Amino acid sequence: MTGDQGLREQAVTDEVVASFAGAKDERYRVVMGSLVRHLHAFARDVRLTQEEWDAAIGFLTRIGHITDDRRQEFVLLSDVLGLSMLTVGMNAPPQQGATESTVFGPFFAEGAPEIEPGGDIGRGAPGTPCWVSGSVRSTDGTPITDARIDVWEADEDGLYDVQYAGNRMQGRGWLRSGADGGYRFWSVRPAPYPIPDDGPVGELLARGARGPMRPAHVHFMVTAPGFRRLVTHIFVEGDEYLDRDAVFGVRRSLVHAFTEREGGTAPDGRAMDGVWNEVAFDIVLAPEGETT
Ligand code: BEZ
Ligand code: FE
Repeated sequence: MTGDQGLREQAVTDEVVASFAGAKDERYRVVMGSLVRHLHAFARDVRLTQEEWDAAIGFLTRIGHITDDRRQEFVLLSDVLGLSMLTVGMNAPPQQGATESTVFGPFFAEGAPEIEPGGDIGRGAPGTPCWVSGSVRSTDGTPITDARIDVWEADEDGLYDVQYAGNRMQGRGWLRSGADGGYRFWSVRPAPYPIPDDGPVGELLARGARGPMRPAHVHFMVTAPGFRRLVTHIFVEGDEYLDRDAVFGVRRSLVHAFTEREGGTAPDGRAMDGVWNEVAFDIVLAPEGETT
């Protein structure tokens, strides 16, 4: 927009940015100034109509109404707009040799049980048994002993325990890496699932002709003193949704083969009488404070 109208519009933006000039907190002033400039630029770019502004306010109001302690529709909105992954990428940039990070998601739950090495985090969750093993190392190759490895996943029906009625605790648990940095546990093969799409975010996806599906994955959060916390997933190689994750969380390096086995003896010596899976995931943590 040029001419008088353009000048009038710019004057509104300048006035609002200037209104934050007295903010004590420098960072707050910078962030709010930039937010205002970008919001105004967006409105001018699309020539936002009054009806569209009303619709946007209605949309955000519905998001507020559906959000509570168990459902965080604002985070879901950030996820489907790629803002969560952008923020993850800026705050945990890929570091030389370290395992890549991805979105945390809404299904982590406090109070998951500790699992002995080789134990079962499935705890009766429906699905094909899956043996997960690997190591935790530093970027210099040193094994990390006693790292805490939190794991959570959806079952074969694409549901997390917290999505069932009652107080199930299945498909989640935590364990520690051993003296050689190694870890191993049983779980179930995860399945693809739709993110909650019965609310305003679901409407947004439908209007955009976008699907709600996430490719099958297992969540990991790995912490050890002196190392940066890692929040990540492993994805199932060959999953049909790898190239259209509703929340843009897939990284090529996180896609792993879940090898199908039939009967025989599992790595922990267990005699298997049906189909089971096996996946290896070596985790590399970046020392705290280290950049690229
Ligand atoms: C998840 O993987 O659990 C998840 C991530 C973002 C939005 C919804 C679910
Ligand atoms: Fe998930």
